[in-house]
Amino acid sequence: MMQRIYFDNAATTSVDEAVLATMMEALRELSGNPSSIYAEGRKARAAIEGARKLVAHHVNASIGEIFFTSGGTESSNMALKGAVRDLGVQRIISSRTEHHCVLHSLDALEAQGVQVDFVTQDEKGIIQLDHLESLLQAGDAKTLVSLMHANNEIGTMIDLGTVGQLCQQYGAYFHTDTVQTIGYFPIDLAQTPISFLTGSAHKFHGPKGCGFIYINQENQLKPFIDGGSQERNMRGGTENTAGILGLAKALDLAYSHLEERAAHIRDVRDYFRDQLLANFEDIEFNGDPFGASHYKVLSVAFPPSPQAELLLFNLDVAGISVSGGSACSSGADAGSHVLNALKKDSPRQTIRFSFSHHNTREEVDRVIAELQKILKKRPSLTQ
Ligand SMILES: Cc1ncc(COP(=O)(O)O)c(C=O)c1O
Repeated sequence: MMQRIYFDNAATTSVDEAVLATMMEALRELSGNPSSIYAEGRKARAAIEGARKLVAHHVNASIGEIFFTSGGTESSNMALKGAVRDLGVQRIISSRTEHHCVLHSLDALEAQGVQVDFVTQDEKGIIQLDHLESLLQAGDAKTLVSLMHANNEIGTMIDLGTVGQLCQQYGAYFHTDTVQTIGYFPIDLAQTPISFLTGSAHKFHGPKGCGFIYINQENQLKPFIDGGSQERNMRGGTENTAGILGLAKALDLAYSHLEERAAHIRDVRDYFRDQLLANFEDIEFNGDPFGASHYKVLSVAFPPSPQAELLLFNLDVAGISVSGGSACSSGADAGSHVLNALKKDSPRQTIRFSFSHHNTREEVDRVIAELQKILKKRPSLTQ
């Protein structure tokens, strides 16, 4: 049987073999409770602190600024809700194309009286910095800006340094969801003014259900989960030792192989983009795959046709896993909130293809051939 092709690496990635080995060893050898003071506990605690040190090293933060969580969703909830509860934030500036973990947190905070303003974006999802600046200038409510580093559906990016400096200039906190970019782009927190940054292991070949938050040491938040004193009081509950070690191992691999992986993924993405343009008429892309865009994402807007409507289904049947818009809230098909915000009423059919260093040009050739079969097939006369 032909191997399936997995082009949905923005939804999640496969766990690296070396990460699996680290986690298996942790499950076998580090079964003590990290809070216990006897030898087994101390061994597990030391392993967790080693993982924290490694994560801090790769983003150039202090060890005390890294907190392990259950993933990107929890981390962003912690940043936004904690900033309102504990830092006196009364107003949040964000974008309509954030992940639902941010947008739905904003809904909850707005219901409590927090003012939420959305910055304007162009059709490619690019943040209009002059509008951001005019929002920052207006009023004197304590403000937090929450903008994602790269959009998970269309790949459009912000420049963290530029936005961070703007926030700093106007005395605003800055939270950024870097779930899609941690392990894919160098991030230097000592040089970039960021208050909160969030990451998730399963996007960089680590385990699901494990993530982290960077909280700049100037910002003291109260516990997000009340309980024991784990994670320096920020998050009660016995630590997920194997998950944390898996996260750190995956991040270490990602940053140790950053350049070669990035070059490979970019080559596969660009080759796919160019093959689509060469083989199909009237192809459009969402976002800006020729500009400031995450190299792992290609969001393709196919012209409307009966065949295009069944593309996702037919690609799956042909052994190709891709996503329609975003897969993060699969099940409910309300359309993509990102595309709705940027390209209202487009009749085009969007498929998000997203790549990893395991993908190849040969796989791209196979996907192009399948797309040709599916899209160029005449609809039956009885349809
Ligand atoms: C940009 C972005 N933020 C947040 C999340 C949520 O992360 P997690 O699945 O770890 O909760 C995802 C994907 O799932 C994402 O793509």
